[in-house]
Amino acid sequence: MSGLFITFEGGEGVGKSTQARLLADYLRGRGLDVDLTREPGGTPGAEALRDFLLFGGHDLSSRAEVMAHFAARADHVDRRIAPALAAGKVVICDRFTDSTEAYQGHGLGNGDPVLLDMIARLRALVPAVPDLTLVLQVPPAIAAARMAERANGRTDRYEALDTAFHARVAAGFDMIARRDATRCRRIDASAAMDAVQDDIRTVVAPYLKRADNA
Ligand SMILES: Nc1ncnc2c1ncn2[C@@H]1O[C@H](COP(=O)(O)OP(=O)(O)OP(=O)(O)O)[C@@H](O)[C@H]1O
Ligand SMILES: [Mg+2]
Repeated sequence: MSGLFITFEGGEGVGKSTQARLLADYLRGRGLDVDLTREPGGTPGAEALRDFLLFGGHDLSSRAEVMAHFAARADHVDRRIAPALAAGKVVICDRFTDSTEAYQGHGLGNGDPVLLDMIARLRALVPAVPDLTLVLQVPPAIAAARMAERANGRTDRYEALDTAFHARVAAGFDMIARRDATRCRRIDASAAMDAVQDDIRTVVAPYLKRADNA
């Protein structure tokens, strides 16, 4: 038995956490066993690494930061995602490997080919590949407004960076979605929450049929 692995990707404030939660609620309402999780994080060890990576005020080298994200991911996949998929669950993950490529490779790394190559090699070692990746996209002004309105309190390492960084991240996600067009679907997330969720359910529907028939 193998479940269904769906990831949400995109820049800051595009609505990933909101839409992931709405999709999880909807699928649970349809009787599916859903594990909603996030990266970096999702297990005690990976959440500790998240706290360090996002709020630790660290000065890791670019390669070390990439590896730390993949270290957190290894714990999350080994201890939570892979067992859930093996048990036939639907796993919905708020960010996954594409975020490492977009943030560390394109955003912080400015598209450095050596760093992108390292990220590609590490990604190839992750024993869980999403069946479907929803790449949420909104114009930068809308993302900035949503970020400002979100009641969150702490500003993390990446949120605090400038608009040029966020533009590189958004362009990185767009490149990934075009390159991995079979796995990824780009979602215009600028509409109202319910309308975006309707689009997402339409995209997800054929994957549920596949899971039902499996
Ligand atoms: N379609 C929408 N229309 C208007 N506001 C929205 C919409 N979707 C989300 N929001 C609001 O925008 C803010 C950011 O949404 P959310 O936290 O889901 O984004 P995110 O992509 O998870 O952000 P981050 O990358 O920082 O985790 C929240 O206050 C949320 O309520
Ligand atoms: Mg979020």
